[in-house]
Amino acid sequence: MTSDEAKSRIHKLSEEINRHNHNYYVLDRPEITDYQFDMLLQELIVLENKFPEFLEENSPSQRVGGTITKSFENVAHKFPMLSLSNTYNEEEIQEFDERVRKLLGEKVEYICELKFDGVAISLTYEHGQLKRAVTRGDGNKGDDVTANVRTIKSIPLKLTGDFPDFFEIRGEIYYPHANFKKLNEDRLDEGLQLFANPRNAASGTLKMQDSAEVAKRKLDCFLYYMSSDIDIADNHYDSLLKAKNWGFRISSNMAKCNQIQEIFEFINDWNIGRRSLPFDIDGIVIKVNNFKQQRELGFTAKSPRWAIAYKFKADEARTKLLSVDFQVGRTGAVTPVANLEPVLLAGTIVKRATLHNADVIQQLGLHENDTVIVEKGGEIIPKIISVVDELRTAGSKQVQFIEKCPECATTLVRNNGEAAWICPNTYSCPPQLKGKIEHFISRKAMNIESLGEGKVEILFDNKLVYNVADLYDLKYVDLLGLEKVFVTEDPENPLVIKERKVSFQKKTVENILQSLENSKNVPFSRVLFALGIRFVGETVAKKLVEAFPTLEQLIAANKESLMEVDEIGDRIADSVIDFFSNHDNISIVERLKDFGIQFEQETSIIRISNILEGKSLVVSGVFTNFSRDQLKEIIEQHGGKNVSSISAKTDFVVAGENMGPAKLEKAVKLKIKILSEEEFIQLIQLD
Ligand code: IVH
Repeated sequence: MTSDEAKSRIHKLSEEINRHNHNYYVLDRPEITDYQFDMLLQELIVLENKFPEFLEENSPSQRVGGTITKSFENVAHKFPMLSLSNTYNEEEIQEFDERVRKLLGEKVEYICELKFDGVAISLTYEHGQLKRAVTRGDGNKGDDVTANVRTIKSIPLKLTGDFPDFFEIRGEIYYPHANFKKLNEDRLDEGLQLFANPRNAASGTLKMQDSAEVAKRKLDCFLYYMSSDIDIADNHYDSLLKAKNWGFRISSNMAKCNQIQEIFEFINDWNIGRRSLPFDIDGIVIKVNNFKQQRELGFTAKSPRWAIAYKFKADEARTKLLSVDFQVGRTGAVTPVANLEPVLLAGTIVKRATLHNADVIQQLGLHENDTVIVEKGGEIIPKIISVVDELRTAGSKQVQFIEKCPECATTLVRNNGEAAWICPNTYSCPPQLKGKIEHFISRKAMNIESLGEGKVEILFDNKLVYNVADLYDLKYVDLLGLEKVFVTEDPENPLVIKERKVSFQKKTVENILQSLENSKNVPFSRVLFALGIRFVGETVAKKLVEAFPTLEQLIAANKESLMEVDEIGDRIADSVIDFFSNHDNISIVERLKDFGIQFEQETSIIRISNILEGKSLVVSGVFTNFSRDQLKEIIEQHGGKNVSSISAKTDFVVAGENMGPAKLEKAVKLKIKILSEEEFIQLIQLD
């Protein structure tokens, strides 16, 4: 392929990929399959590698991220990012409308929009290309988070149509509910602190240093405000319609209102409708539509006079604290839960609220029998936001956090810098043991679903299982006929108690034994995840198994070699070493191995060539065209072996940007050939 041909093919592929991205992420109307899309992207990456002179900053291949930002540059906004004044009731909106009409002395049309609850962002485009993405900061200066924002698929990197040469567009980056739920589930598996709500998760993600990680988190964005030196249209609504045509994601949930009554209707509709949206909104924004009128109204020091935000009231209710329970989870963390006098909140009856940890109880100053205010905000479980001090019963005692585990009476401990009190009796505290087994059988782990829905509890109560290895000793006769009646609350109405009988009949027992047998084919990485080692979630387990493909290698790994693995830091390395230095754990793992559980990684790599046969390679640093995982896969496809640490036996080091200085020094000292990304591609003749 000649250079000219490559240039035009790269151009054509980029346009096509951008169009498919837009179809998928903005219009929700894909025209091709994921596989076809991946093929186009792969072709582009290969061509850009061969002809790096045609690789553009905004090429769709750059969406996977890989840039590391050590500290975000603080940059000035061309147009200050003002906030809106907030209102909480209809009278204040009426006053706003009166003010506007009085100042203008003419008819006004308003646009009502959703007030997205995320992180405000300003995007600058020059000649149709995304140049910069900056957070709000203090309104005058914000952080340049361009590398991270480039990974958000619904944000166009290149525009189409009749866009102006220079403009800024503002919007909100948010975390969709489904992705947020998955994020917190993964963090729970990994023993990491959960994000309190999608907004915190969005803002935390935007500030991550590795944009490849941001790409995995799947943020999304709505744009809602154009600011440009030239007028793009006569009014706000039309300017957004234009932006939509250039490729931006604009919400269709907007309304033109000429009467104040229509504004109230919009507010009331969305106060209910917000519960079915797949993302959080915290109110409604009302804007004067006409740009000439907007200019006439102008700004105060803090906010535009032509717009106002109506904030939804968080659903709140007043009730009484009955008692506080302390629940012990799989990892031993003790969570205080308040039992409340049942109260109606946001359409459901609430009987319990989380108190999170000891600090929260302290901050609330919670006393026995207190009257409390519960709120259902962005969080799923209601929480107590305050105590009504005036209604406190005289002489009532402050709620104390317990000192001993409520399940096994072991003295609780609190690690430095951690919020939770932990029961350290990992190996015999009942809920921890039960929790470990429940985690082991779960779908993403060993997938022994036929043991779900309380059956583990029955086995545990009957002293048939104590740890995960005991599951494989279970016999037909042990199980047949076991039963228990579970008393549960209707999730819609916890005042309604339901009884559910779980019994081990012939068919159930057969299914259980069959799924235990099937679980012997579950690959090593999922087995490792299933063991429930603290901080070892699905992704970490995969990384560990890639670096240490057999159990023996993993057990033998020291802290240094563990930390050489991608994404494995101090804390995870310590936790893995801790786990395998425990005698009980080793004996469980050995029993599992004897039962035929997989403790070795099988490779499913398709061999492309033998160029790297017998060679050991270390991949280190950040790369332009591939993620480290992709490079490792390519190495295996060409017969090479990936090793995590440099030694005299290493043949090549494939070095990207930001490779650690210690590694580099070691490679140079041992005279190991260091390949750049391009040299590596040349070596394996990837074309
Ligand atoms: S307009 C000059 N529209 O709410 C006015 N803001 O305090 C520009 N927000 O900082 C803002 N949804 O982060 C506007 N549809 C919407 C919005 C919206 C959410 C946020 C934005 C702003 C804050 C207002």
